[in-house]
Amino acid sequence: MRVTLAITGASGAQYGLRLLEVLLNNGHQVYLMVSKAAHVVIATETTWQLPARPAELEAELVKRFAVDHSLLRVFGREQWMAPVASGSGAPSAMVICPCSTGTLSAIATGACNNLIERAADVALKERRRLILVPRESPYSAIHLENMLKITNMGGVILPASPGFYHQPEHISDLIDFVVARVLNQLGIEQQLLPRWGEQFS
Ligand SMILES: Cc1cc2nc3c(=O)[nH]c(=O)nc-3n(C[C@H](O)[C@H](O)[C@H](O)COP(=O)(O)O)c2cc1C
Repeated sequence: MRVTLAITGASGAQYGLRLLEVLLNNGHQVYLMVSKAAHVVIATETTWQLPARPAELEAELVKRFAVDHSLLRVFGREQWMAPVASGSGAPSAMVICPCSTGTLSAIATGACNNLIERAADVALKERRRLILVPRESPYSAIHLENMLKITNMGGVILPASPGFYHQPEHISDLIDFVVARVLNQLGIEQQLLPRWGEQFS
């Protein structure tokens, strides 16, 4: 499967990086975009030192995950000729994980001021799968209204709200809970978490 993945500047960069790792390790092709704010969050929340330039970031991630280079393409914020900027080139599914409330708002209003927002707009207009993983607490009425708008347009709001019924022992168990939910939405088989009724009954 080919998936567009955007990592934006909400807390929870680990969710997006783990999702990227799982997709690549399972042979899925990823078109990746990382917002400027996401780079700040990644530097704050992880020990990763990721280059800002798309070509360098692509090379670094390919090396880090030890995957074939053909599986990953990284696009910059104004790379309007990228496949994700048009319905004729974009993959059938896009995930924004984590999704900042700023990007959420831009999608709800159709702003298209950068490639992430444009790609999400394309997903909505083409009636393709769009999965947003927002993280904020508490939510304001603006956030909730934007989430409802996007839901009514066919997008899926999948908040970064891990459950605890799988008895997590490590932070990675909480991260995998959310990543497994995203993979389920994409229709991708996952072994990160048993399905409800398989182990928890
Ligand atoms: C360390 C850090 C944590 C942040 N956490 C959040 C958050 O949880 N949710 C959110 O919506 N914005 C958060 N922000 C603010 C966004 O990064 C900021 O609004 C930014 O403009 C979003 O831009 P983007 O959507 O282009 O990534 C955080 C910023 C930093 C630096």
